[in-house]
Amino acid sequence: MKDIKEKMCIKHIGKEEKMKAIEIRNKYLEFFKNHGHTVIPSAPLIPENDPSVLFNTAGMQPLVPYLLGEKHPLGTRLTDYQKCVRTNDIDEVGDNRHLTYFEMLGNWSLGDYFKEESIQMSFDFLTKELQIPVEKLSVTVFAGDEDCPRDEIAAECWKKAGILDGHIYYYGKDDNWWIAGEEGPCGPDTEMFYDTGKQACSSECQPSCDCGKYVEIWNNVFMEYFKDKDGKYTKLSQKNVDTGLGLERMTMLLQGKETPFDTELFKPVMDKLVELEKVDIIESRRIIAEHLRSSMMIISDGGRPSNVDRGYVLRRLIRRMVRHMNKLQINLDEISTLIDINVENLKQMYPELENNHEMIKSVIIEEKNKFMKTLTHGEKEFQKEMNRAKEQNKNIIEGPIVFKLYDTYGFPPEVTKELAEENGMTVDMKKFEELFKEHQEKSRLGSEQKFKGGLAEQNEVTVAYHTATHLLNAALKVVLGPDTHQKGSNITAERMRFDFNCDHKMTDEEKKQTEDLVNQWIQENLDVTIEEMKKEEAIKSGAECMFIEKYPDIVTVYSIGTISKELCGGPHVKNTAELGKFKIKKEEASSAGIRRIKAILEK
Ligand code: ALA
Repeated sequence: MKDIKEKMCIKHIGKEEKMKAIEIRNKYLEFFKNHGHTVIPSAPLIPENDPSVLFNTAGMQPLVPYLLGEKHPLGTRLTDYQKCVRTNDIDEVGDNRHLTYFEMLGNWSLGDYFKEESIQMSFDFLTKELQIPVEKLSVTVFAGDEDCPRDEIAAECWKKAGILDGHIYYYGKDDNWWIAGEEGPCGPDTEMFYDTGKQACSSECQPSCDCGKYVEIWNNVFMEYFKDKDGKYTKLSQKNVDTGLGLERMTMLLQGKETPFDTELFKPVMDKLVELEKVDIIESRRIIAEHLRSSMMIISDGGRPSNVDRGYVLRRLIRRMVRHMNKLQINLDEISTLIDINVENLKQMYPELENNHEMIKSVIIEEKNKFMKTLTHGEKEFQKEMNRAKEQNKNIIEGPIVFKLYDTYGFPPEVTKELAEENGMTVDMKKFEELFKEHQEKSRLGSEQKFKGGLAEQNEVTVAYHTATHLLNAALKVVLGPDTHQKGSNITAERMRFDFNCDHKMTDEEKKQTEDLVNQWIQENLDVTIEEMKKEEAIKSGAECMFIEKYPDIVTVYSIGTISKELCGGPHVKNTAELGKFKIKKEEASSAGIRRIKAILEK
């Protein structure tokens, strides 16, 4: 028996060695398509019309309105791959598993199938499509508490599907409950784990242990509840399933690799770094490769470095990459070569990287140049601080100074330390770490707040405003001319803001015509419809689009009657009758050649 098992295992690894990430993605989408799911495109990394969320962090995020009960135009069974960025663990990148950018494969039931079918499909995909031997699989289910009963149904479904005895574990909310942030749709989940075959760390070793023997591969959330901001749970109007499978991790496991950096997703860049480096530090190599891919994906979806929010995340990623290139003593001009390698390697999975190749390069190189200036500037400040300390007969650079150099001048603490040591001084890194942690905690709370805000903001009112932006866009073309295009928008529950190109202050008459036209269309009860098509076809058919490069190859196009057609990720109302009365509150300059309208919908 043991022999047979061993052979099966070897056969399995040998066979899957060749399975690349893109094949796993394709198999996944195909499998769920064959099970009645519509394949929807990945939403851009940067959520549309939602300035309050930094990045999409899970496949469910663009689908929140539908999980809350709104009807999705493409049905009740959906599947996609979603580009995700999670930055909470940015400082962990460099170890053998953390990534800031990753791809999540997902399938959803919007009030359609529930536990049994979801579990059976997951089991079949893992064992039949990916050919993972059942011995390697363990699952966890919710143990139950005062909010929700023990999930014996999920456990029974797993047994029925074929999970082995002793491979089902029960855990509490910490492990088997899923919610994005603090508030929103949520529920018990069941997680699937892959046994890497490593020695158990102890006789107690279980999937919840992070010694590395068990690796989580897939999470199916049974979204039955809504948690409000007071922590109260109520049942949702429909029972959903939301699943997420991390592509990089699955690729690594199926290829029998120790880390995602050993898979084809990172290998070409990692190999080039070995060739270029003068100092060999594996963690730095991983940080460079990971942050480069992440930055490229963010830039290609429209992100730009800045000092706030997502722009700041991108800035940190690029600067950290540059610092580690310095650490490995790699000539910074090689960034260009590394970008070329990544585009070549990843363009089949992400054609947008090839479409934006030169733009990505120029954004990264410009940021690198700025950072080099910061370093030079910071060095001068460091000299001043050092002289000051010496004048006071101190042989130490105090923690608050290290923090000031970091926070005000962007000067990395490890560089402060190096320079201090070269000058025979020490630094109070302990105090610096304390200050840094305080600062991190503040920004983490800030981001969580934003994430929460983002989900809460996607409600009936903001969806209506979103549809109104399409109507306004169409109306402005009629009133000001067909070359008028949207240049930006921002929606809150109170109002919409819409930027567009126009070379003059709109006259009262133009404003009135625009308002009347939008209201006329609202009163015509126009249906809002959605189609999926190739990007080129969509453009050819005259669909309006703000940043063509931001969209994947297959796009969704929303039409409102025959008056508006736009590439857009949605969501929208089903009929303009839902909008109420449109009123322009203000028309003003936004920047050179760009005007801004603030408008409201009155019920
Ligand atoms: N939304 C679930 C997750 O991110 C599937 O794990």
